[in-house]
Amino acid sequence: MDYDQGEQQLKNIIQKSSNILQDVVDYLCDKFDCYNWVGIYIIGDKDLVLGPWKGPNATEHTRIPIGKGVCGSAAATGKTEVVDDVHSDSRYLACFVTTKSEIVVPIKKQGKIIGEIDIDSDKRNAFTNEDKIFLEKVADMLSEHI
Ligand code: SME
Repeated sequence: MDYDQGEQQLKNIIQKSSNILQDVVDYLCDKFDCYNWVGIYIIGDKDLVLGPWKGPNATEHTRIPIGKGVCGSAAATGKTEVVDDVHSDSRYLACFVTTKSEIVVPIKKQGKIIGEIDIDSDKRNAFTNEDKIFLEKVADMLSEHI
């Protein structure tokens, strides 16, 4: 999938959908080969709470304390986390035996972190700088819809 085309199609989905978060998650998971599990976590009082997701299996990590795991780190710093090899990152909270790399992109509203996009890939080094730029744009698009 071409990133510019993906951005355009996601804009259309966001304009028309009555279930925006789920439709965006489904689109990312269906159209990008390396995006094997896609979920959106929403910031709660002390932890991240799993919202819509799509992938072959459910995760046991439906609540993650801020500061824990790759997801909690991104929530604490507000910075995108790209983990090329999850097994060499001591923060990693394992969900699926097939996962080899992960990206977590914070969603912000007026500078405040309100959620994040979490994507697991079965391929090592799956997430390039283009993925990072693309997904940060997607996070911006979602900021008004959380
Ligand atoms: N691996 C994540 C936990 C969430 S699952 O990937 C869906 C982490 O280390 O925070």
